[in-house]
Amino acid sequence: MQGLFITFEGGEGAGKSTQIGLLADHLRADGDDVLVTREPGGSPGAEAVRHVILSGAAEPFGPAMEALLFAAARNDHVEQVIRQALKAGQMVLCDRYIDSSRVYQGVTGNLDPDLMRAIERAAINGLMPDMTIILDLPAEVGLQRAHARRGAGTADRFEKETIDLHRKRRDAYLAIATAEPERCKVIAANRSADEIAADIAALVDRLKTSRGLKTKQGIEVAK
Ligand code: TYD
Repeated sequence: MQGLFITFEGGEGAGKSTQIGLLADHLRADGDDVLVTREPGGSPGAEAVRHVILSGAAEPFGPAMEALLFAAARNDHVEQVIRQALKAGQMVLCDRYIDSSRVYQGVTGNLDPDLMRAIERAAINGLMPDMTIILDLPAEVGLQRAHARRGAGTADRFEKETIDLHRKRRDAYLAIATAEPERCKVIAANRSADEIAADIAALVDRLKTSRGLKTKQGIEVAK
């Protein structure tokens, strides 16, 4: 039985990791085998590349260099970890995936859409998410939360940027959701963690039911 591949997207401070943790708890309580992972990273090769990207070492070489590094990391993660996990029936919850590249490198990095599509195809080799949860938040609120979380610590390569960029990214995520409404679900993230988690759990339970997977209610629908 093939597992489900669910990705989480959104700007800084949208609460992705909290929500991934809560969904993992919900699914485990249902008896699912859950794998929580993240990008860039998630496999030894990709974690090595993560360090290069987030340290800012690749920044002087431009957004195309960064896009290719994200794609290299993603390809390793897909082929070494995600595909096998899905084959083994695991529910794979991934913090960021292709839409982060589309938004951060493609839109705010101003890269050529044809180049971005080619890179994406090579990186994932057909492995599209079954569902993408986009945690949507006004840019100001997300930035405030990210600052609060970071405290006195230093910002990484992607956190140092301006409010304008964050607004563009929010719009770009919403545009992806409009273009791919079957896959992408926009969740208002300016609410309590429990309210958000309940909405996400309902969406995922519905997806499981539609794929013939068991939910807590014991409903099983044939494919
Ligand atoms: P991370 O520390 O994992 O932060 P976050 O909590 O925001 O996910 O840093 C990942 C950063 O890398 C984040 O700012 C978004 C950026 N990124 C891209 O630009 N492109 C990508 O394809 C991915 C996966 C991440």
